[in-house]
Amino acid sequence: MTAVPVSMPGSFGRLRLIIAALTVLAAASLLLAWTLATSDRPTTAVVWGNLALAALAFGLLCIRAGTAGRTSWALLRTHLVAGKQAGLVPTILEVRDMYLDLLRSSLTRYGEDELAPIRASNHPMVRRVFGILAKRNIRLVRAIPFDEQKRNLGLDWPASAETMIGMQRLTHLQHCVETVLAEDIPGDLIECGVWRGGACILMRAVLAAYGDEERCVWLADSFEGVPPPDPENYSADKDLRLDLAADVLAIPESTVRNNFKRYGLLDDRVRFLPGWFKDTLPDAPIDRIALLRLDGDLYESTVQALDALYPRLSAEGFCIIDDYHPIDACRQAVTDYRQRNSISAEVIDIDGTGVYWRKSVREVNTRP
Ligand SMILES: C[S@@+](CC[C@H](N)C(=O)[O-])C[C@H]1O[C@@H](n2cnc3c(N)ncnc32)[C@H](O)[C@@H]1O
Repeated sequence: MTAVPVSMPGSFGRLRLIIAALTVLAAASLLLAWTLATSDRPTTAVVWGNLALAALAFGLLCIRAGTAGRTSWALLRTHLVAGKQAGLVPTILEVRDMYLDLLRSSLTRYGEDELAPIRASNHPMVRRVFGILAKRNIRLVRAIPFDEQKRNLGLDWPASAETMIGMQRLTHLQHCVETVLAEDIPGDLIECGVWRGGACILMRAVLAAYGDEERCVWLADSFEGVPPPDPENYSADKDLRLDLAADVLAIPESTVRNNFKRYGLLDDRVRFLPGWFKDTLPDAPIDRIALLRLDGDLYESTVQALDALYPRLSAEGFCIIDDYHPIDACRQAVTDYRQRNSISAEVIDIDGTGVYWRKSVREVNTRP
């Protein structure tokens, strides 16, 4: 851990010069005013006299401000040094960890009861009442008490959190990005299936917190939810009707952008790939990838993303599969892809739901 650098601001030398110049000006003006006053030009003497007084007053103010600034900086420095010795002032690295911890808590709404909107039933009377309330900006909500286990393991669809992957997978994601930076693994970071964007917000925040100025975070999503199953081409998906949950899973791109803005993290290194994976990923303008995170749930979505992007993953890069354990179709897609491409790197469990592996150097070297 390094200490907060303590240095003096560099403006005091310049201040002394200004004060000296003002003093000379004031003295010269006074002399001139006195000479003119004793001659036949008393009006000009008054102008020079006033100028001299103004210069003197300004000089005195500068001296006072300089002394005050110096005093408060010295005081702050004394406090910082004393506090550091007493273990009271966090180092900049501790502050960075605190920022990322706080961000993960916020993105998962950790520890908070949530308010979920109550949807109107199809009864015309109920719809009418809901319509009248909506016009007055009144919404009916149901309180959902915080469930620590569910939020740790990402086992629910949160009402307002920006990510559904839970604290453990989010923390693991942070460590992966930190490893990418520490080991300088080349390439950008991408998530396929972003929902409200929380996992990508964290990835952008880690880059910012570590001062990375090169890498982009890519967000690939239909922003319309999961596609309907295509059993002719992907039989494993035939019973997966996540497309019917569009009211929860379809999050517009504008909402995701706003979520980034809320955390002050939307810039030109956050890149959007809107559309179905099969259309957007094969020609996505990304050369190299250091971290590939797949969260599209279906066989179709998982295999399309692997086909298009895995070849661009750098050696030692991370391939993270969010729904490997709970969704059979997703796991099948991964198993088939790995077999077809002779990938033998160990699949490592994260939290009983997600898994990851790191692309081996041998894999990269044996590719044609
Ligand atoms: C489970 S959510 C992702 C959760 C998100 N990673 C998080 O941090 O909370 C699945 C997302 O994948 C998207 N999706 C699934 N299959 C897709 C496909 N084939 N093309 C485009 N988007 C897809 C959906 O729109 C949805 O936003």
